[in-house]
Amino acid sequence: MNRDFLKKEEKSLIQAYSQLPISVAEGYECELITNDGERIIDFYGGHAVVPLGYGHKGYIDAVQTQMKKLLFQSNLLPLDIRANTASQLLSISPKNLKKVFFVNSGSEANENALKIACHYTKRKKILSISHAFHGRTAAAAAVTWGSESWYGFPSKPFEVEFIPRNNSDLARKMINSDIAAVIVEPIQGVAGAFDLSEEFLKSIRDACNDHSVLMIVDEVQSGMGRSGKYFAIQNFNIEPDIMTAAKSLGGGLPCSVIFINSLLDENIKKGELGSTFGGNPVICSAIEFVIQLIKEKNILKNVIEREKEIREFCITGPVNEIQGKGLLLGLHTELPAQEIQKKLLKKNILTGLSSDPNILRLLPPLVLRSEHIERLSEALSAI
Ligand SMILES: Cc1ncc(COP(=O)(O)O)c(C=O)c1O
Repeated sequence: MNRDFLKKEEKSLIQAYSQLPISVAEGYECELITNDGERIIDFYGGHAVVPLGYGHKGYIDAVQTQMKKLLFQSNLLPLDIRANTASQLLSISPKNLKKVFFVNSGSEANENALKIACHYTKRKKILSISHAFHGRTAAAAAVTWGSESWYGFPSKPFEVEFIPRNNSDLARKMINSDIAAVIVEPIQGVAGAFDLSEEFLKSIRDACNDHSVLMIVDEVQSGMGRSGKYFAIQNFNIEPDIMTAAKSLGGGLPCSVIFINSLLDENIKKGELGSTFGGNPVICSAIEFVIQLIKEKNILKNVIEREKEIREFCITGPVNEIQGKGLLLGLHTELPAQEIQKKLLKKNILTGLSSDPNILRLLPPLVLRSEHIERLSEALSAI
């Protein structure tokens, strides 16, 4: 394998990531093609980003058509396509969420969600959940578990405490009228697709109601169909006050969105939120196409069926248990997950890791097929 690309990256790019030893040139559906011409099945999905896989003709046509029509316009001018995209997103989200605002990344969406919460409640403390990941910007990183090692800013923008995950009693005790909001991922992605229990999530919702605390649900990784529902929180029939989404949202183009309930909407004044690129027409055409295809091709059903197959056929070789939902799954491995990842990559299967050294994470395109799972199962059995 030609590894010159690694030297090239070292020369010019900040070495912030430990990279894998493959250089990808192209992608088709659920496969990546390397510069050496190897075809790799992608169970990583660019980190939960490509719901329709690579090179989807309809998606590319939709984006190109919009590019030709109107490449860009700021939020200063109303756009039909932005309003239509917003109402489509609201039509698939929890019913109490009434308005959206578009920004550019998961961190930025969470940053704004936390700002809205502090501003609305006039309170200075946020609760997060142990092992959570919410992003790298000042407020998002402040509510990220273990961010002290890389935080960098002189102080956090508000007080933060972490509720031990799945501890409903402590959740009820810690949520009180000093708290502005609780931020929670319904399935903890970076932590290895760790499922928070229904009881825990409901205890947070109830305690938030009791003390007028806002519940922010971070669906950056679990949203847009990945859990088998449009948003993972819909598996629990819980209505958050604020919800954020990103990653799969734009089918691969960078974007994110904040959803809020009507009470918060009434209190947001002009000038409080802003973004140059958020809600631009090309991104909106991409979001619209992703929603349309999920509906037309019944992709949520595919997610649930493929999850069943992974659960049936991939508890084999070093894998002894599976957690998570839909196509956001964590495979418990007896050997370190990094070793398994390397071995699978040698067999042309790309998988993800997590902050748990014994969890191999799967976050593939939502159009994954049975044949890909058969290949993964065979490769795992042989380890
Ligand atoms: C749940 C969750 N929230 C927020 C983020 C941050 O998103 P971004 O990297 O787009 O800023 C991530 C990224 O992995 C995430 O998984």
